[in-house]
Amino acid sequence: MDHSTFKPDYLYQQVITVVKEMVEQELLLPGDKLPSLRAMASRLRVSIPTVQQAYQQLEMTGLVVAREKSGYFLQSGHDTATPRRSKLPAKPVMVNKQQLIEQVYEGIHLPDVAPLGLANPVAAASPQQALAKSMRQAMRQAQERMLDYGAIDGLTMLKAQIVQYYLALGLTVNSDDLIITNGAQEAIAIALQCVTQPGDIVAIESPCYFGIVELVENLGLKAIEIPVCPDDGLWLDDLSAALSRHSIKACLFSTSINNPLGSQMPESRMQQLLKLLCAHDVVLIEDDVYGDLYFGEQRIRPAQCFATPGEVLTCSSFSKTVAPGYRVGWMLAGPYSARAKRFKRALSCSAPMMNQWALADFMASGEFQRHLRQLRKRLYDNKQKMRLAVQKYFPEHVRVSDPKGGCVLWLDLGGAYDGGLFFQLALRAGISVAPGAIFSAYERYRSCVRISYGLPWSAEMEGYVRTLGALVQQAKKQPQPQSV
Ligand SMILES: Cc1ncc(COP(=O)(O)O)c(C=O)c1O
Repeated sequence: MDHSTFKPDYLYQQVITVVKEMVEQELLLPGDKLPSLRAMASRLRVSIPTVQQAYQQLEMTGLVVAREKSGYFLQSGHDTATPRRSKLPAKPVMVNKQQLIEQVYEGIHLPDVAPLGLANPVAAASPQQALAKSMRQAMRQAQERMLDYGAIDGLTMLKAQIVQYYLALGLTVNSDDLIITNGAQEAIAIALQCVTQPGDIVAIESPCYFGIVELVENLGLKAIEIPVCPDDGLWLDDLSAALSRHSIKACLFSTSINNPLGSQMPESRMQQLLKLLCAHDVVLIEDDVYGDLYFGEQRIRPAQCFATPGEVLTCSSFSKTVAPGYRVGWMLAGPYSARAKRFKRALSCSAPMMNQWALADFMASGEFQRHLRQLRKRLYDNKQKMRLAVQKYFPEHVRVSDPKGGCVLWLDLGGAYDGGLFFQLALRAGISVAPGAIFSAYERYRSCVRISYGLPWSAEMEGYVRTLGALVQQAKKQPQPQSV
């Protein structure tokens, strides 16, 4: 190749072309180090800053990774943190994770730490101003009605907006079957109580959002874990085997985007899932809180869209899209509505009135959909930047997920490393992360951690990732003393 006849314009782009040619011709293989800046500059007769600009551009596209003090490397392929598929059949267990979750929760919510352990995507692009406008508008309209007890099943105006929201997804919802709750967590708790008794077996995802692990423990239910494929959601053959072996009363799955893996179940698989559950006469409780935070072309619709009445109870909220502090969620309870309303009345009477009024206005004004478009874009950008930073600052063996939506990365530090110890080290360095062990009712994911990119991206954020990367070696498990 003779590159000495480069035109002066966009020299760096021509350097990029050379690197891409080297990749095509397999002169550079995944994981290989690129020629040093100096070597490439002298070979192509361009300046070192030109080569640097080209390498940085390639880094932005994800083709190469910069490693501190080592240089630039060709991306080493698909580094996704695939949860290992258990060879032994999964067994139902009574859950005992609350103490651990409590400790972690305290750490994650400490006021002076960088909250990478929290999954709060809204922080990446807050709709604060538009929401404040809706709140003012609601105060003018509702006046003292805002201070009343509300209806058990929620504010009619908000329910009408949620009915419209589902209509746009092709689902006709009967307003009587829609119940406004205090966040999705309450909706899921009510749904579980509608279809189970203490001691029953509930199938959950593996890994699974720790709030669900804790809820299952609190309701005295047994959990059986079904592994999640990092790309397509649940492994349906594992679920099928579990359904054949055990008397599972309900399945509780995030049908759209899983937290912490960020996997996404295509609609065709969702329909297979429903077929399987129908054959075993098992109810699905779907957790759709992340459904609107997808990175693909369009939203994967909730399973409810493909179900017949009574097959699916859908739970969702505004916590991941608008304001977790508002504590407003909902459930589509179908034939379980009367029972669900009784639980709702017994638990918390109604959801906060002011917040329901404001959210109804926020949706009616078109701000909700506008905000979602912006939030998705911001989260996608953040994901790319956070993945690049992890690849740059973490040791090469660390595997990182490539989420299809949501706001978290799932890292596997490797079997020799302890995610719990890493959590402690990170906290001491002023950063919270969520250790993998809390994402399972079993003793799994001890070498994993979850970190959030649901914050505005900045040099400071990159600095946190650098700090975390430097802590990995210290999180190596200590060898157990040999017994004599
Ligand atoms: C997967 C999942 N489901 C449910 C919830 C609870 O949502 P809410 O804050 O609306 O109660 C969360 C919150 O983190 C979550 O990540």
